[in-house]
Amino acid sequence: MTTVGPSLRETLARRTGTRAEDWHLVFRARHGMLVVLRELKALRGEGSVVTQLLTCCTAVDPIVTAGLRPVYADVDAQTMAVDPQTLPDVADLHAIVCQHTFGYIDQAQTAELRCRAHEAGALLLEDCAHCVGRLATDDGAAPLADVSFHSFGVEKMLPTYFGGAVYLNPNMADGELRQRIEDALRALPEPTGCLSRAMRSYRTQIRVLNHLPRPLARGLRATLTNLRLFEPAISELEMAGGVAHEPLAAGAWAQQAVAGPLAELPASEELRVRALQAYGRELAGIEGVRTSEAMLGSGQPLLRLPLNVCDATTADRVIAAIGAQGLYAVPWYRPLLYPGVTDDAAYGYDRSLAGLSRTAELARGAVALPCDLTDEQVAAVVRAIRSVVAEG
Ligand SMILES: Cc1ncc(COP(=O)(O)O)c(C=O)c1O
Repeated sequence: MTTVGPSLRETLARRTGTRAEDWHLVFRARHGMLVVLRELKALRGEGSVVTQLLTCCTAVDPIVTAGLRPVYADVDAQTMAVDPQTLPDVADLHAIVCQHTFGYIDQAQTAELRCRAHEAGALLLEDCAHCVGRLATDDGAAPLADVSFHSFGVEKMLPTYFGGAVYLNPNMADGELRQRIEDALRALPEPTGCLSRAMRSYRTQIRVLNHLPRPLARGLRATLTNLRLFEPAISELEMAGGVAHEPLAAGAWAQQAVAGPLAELPASEELRVRALQAYGRELAGIEGVRTSEAMLGSGQPLLRLPLNVCDATTADRVIAAIGAQGLYAVPWYRPLLYPGVTDDAAYGYDRSLAGLSRTAELARGAVALPCDLTDEQVAAVVRAIRSVVAEG
């Protein structure tokens, strides 16, 4: 037991108007998901979890690893979350995952998914990996989801690399399931040995790897990973439906690393809100690019702003042009189940994308723009986009 843990949980509780005791800290968000889904499976047996392909493979790995069946719903084009209007009919539904993609929270749509889940006796699981410390609530400010997952991991809202948090709604209808999940989360061991050392070295290792020529970096990374000296954000196993390590708690070191950045999150969120306004001005009237107008006009502190151009080649040129400005755009979620999976069957992934036309459309030519930018940087990003799109 450390003195740092409670304060991290307190901070999350304060930000969300919830109780600190309902928060649990884990090694990664995917570990929290795995704990919850295993308990769900243990209590209710075989079953399905409705989720989306427009996500990171690590958001689906816990479903597969828990022995449940992922069923992919199409997403709403504006929220990029599971569309409650076109939910697949699933007889053995155990849970629906509502992902606040890029940190955009649509309260009404989340409430609708909650209704659909609860009507079927299933859970609403909320993926807040992109909006740590924010969650969907009802009009009375009560959290909507049964369980909410937050990430302190790589390329999320905080400049940290490890850690996640699980919020367990005290009003979950199935009290026995809630208790089992809580007991399992409380019993998680902390990382030790090689893993603990790899966590502490990660930041330095990444800096070194980023400065090496790509083939050399790839080789060194593989060697360090094999020697268990380096802990990749997504392992080979995690591109094949597995989860690296049995679920773990966050550990004192990770909690300490997160405390400072979490305290500074409000300032970084303000920057993101201003950047979104700047994008609204700068992107107006550009031909050949599409974005989510709902996200653009939301006033929410987005992790990234999604953009679609005509095809993958153009999207990669946009990303390179933004990179030439010293700024960092990414091709999320192209490929789907990003960064792509090596065992389609394990995920029940049908690449024909039958019935998932909006998912297919949003993945084509996808670019996810950075949002932690000043107005000048947003202008530079948009100039880079214009230069590519104008070339045709
Ligand atoms: C949408 C989404 N959900 C869940 C996760 C898993 O979070 P963590 O890396 O903390 O396990 C990620 C990570 O990339 C993600 O992007």
